Amino acid sequence: MINFHQVHKAYRVSGHDIPALRPTDLQIARGEVFGIIGHSGAGKSTLLRLINRLEEPSGGRIEIDGVDVTALDAAGLRRQRQQVGMIFQHFNLLASKTVADNVAMPLKLAGELSRTAIEQRVAALLARVGLQDHANKYPAQLSGGQKQRVGIARALATEPNILLCDEATSALDPQTTGQVLQLLAEINRELNLTIVLITHEMDVIRRVCDRVAVMDAGVIVEQGPVAEVFLHPQHATSKRFVQEAEHVDGDEQHDDFAHVPGRILRLTFQGEATYAPLLGTVARETGVDYSILAGRIDRIKDTPYGQLTLALTGGDIDAAIARFNAGDVHLEVLR
Ligand SMILES: Nc1ncnc2c1ncn2[C@@H]1O[C@H](COP(=O)(O)OP(=O)(O)O)[C@@H](O)[C@H]1O
Ligand SMILES: [Mg+2]
Repeated sequence: MINFHQVHKAYRVSGHDIPALRPTDLQIARGEVFGIIGHSGAGKSTLLRLINRLEEPSGGRIEIDGVDVTALDAAGLRRQRQQVGMIFQHFNLLASKTVADNVAMPLKLAGELSRTAIEQRVAALLARVGLQDHANKYPAQLSGGQKQRVGIARALATEPNILLCDEATSALDPQTTGQVLQLLAEINRELNLTIVLITHEMDVIRRVCDRVAVMDAGVIVEQGPVAEVFLHPQHATSKRFVQEAEHVDGDEQHDDFAHVPGRILRLTFQGEATYAPLLGTVARETGVDYSILAGRIDRIKDTPYGQLTLALTGGDIDAAIARFNAGDVHLEVLR
């Protein structure tokens, strides 16, 4: 649905070109939640804002639904922008307008609907984001999570088919973040809305995204299905984000378990395999014992996964490794 062909962007600052996005190819499919993760200054916002041409590319071609948006005239661009909603880290609501008026704003600007039709649409949108009782409040009277719900309702007002989210949960506490992400997942499913979401938190990617691109210094250094990148990151930047998400601190990262006897394995289970009693079975069959050195069981979007680091001692360890390899798990021998 969204296609970047060798798109690049440099900002001209006092006579110098600052490259923000190096020539990039990118394909985002209809209906997916596509995440872009990177540290501050990596070029995420630049990439996102090129999609609705809030930034003009320095070169390359951007197609949305087969239409070259880089070639649109002003009228074409206005129409195209109605197809692309956007939400922001700091919500960007108008403080002097009520919740309902904030949501009505894009519809009034578009000038296509009657007053009654706008009122009906706004009421439906506020109900959709759970704010039907707050229509006449002002932004200052709302919590951060409620403000972002207004932002989402406003972004959906013109019934776009793409929603761009620029660090939409970065100003929210963890619980509110969870609720807003859940709302985004719902509207993605129910409206078949394509969502492009940028963040510096791997946990946000893990919870809602289908695919992810990792950015570093204006370059996409790795991309793929979230399960792939999250469970088996290849690039150093991706690995760092995963370690941050797992709250592994600097010391643990470098723990080679030198003081632990035995062979050390890392097992990754996904989907149904997460609940299969493989560890017990293999222990009985091969006589190995193990201690669990690290572990986590969680979900990637809707798919459960488990990752365990084990030290194996006693019994037939090679047979145990072969048995794990034959099972529905991904196995890495760490030592
Ligand atoms: N309007 C601008 N003018 C000049 N430089 C900019 C502008 N916007 C972003 N940059 C620079 O481009 C790079 C990428 O920025 P940005 O896309 O905002 O990254 P991110 O969203 O990942 O933090 C940074 O070096 C930033 O300083
Ligand atoms: Mg940014």
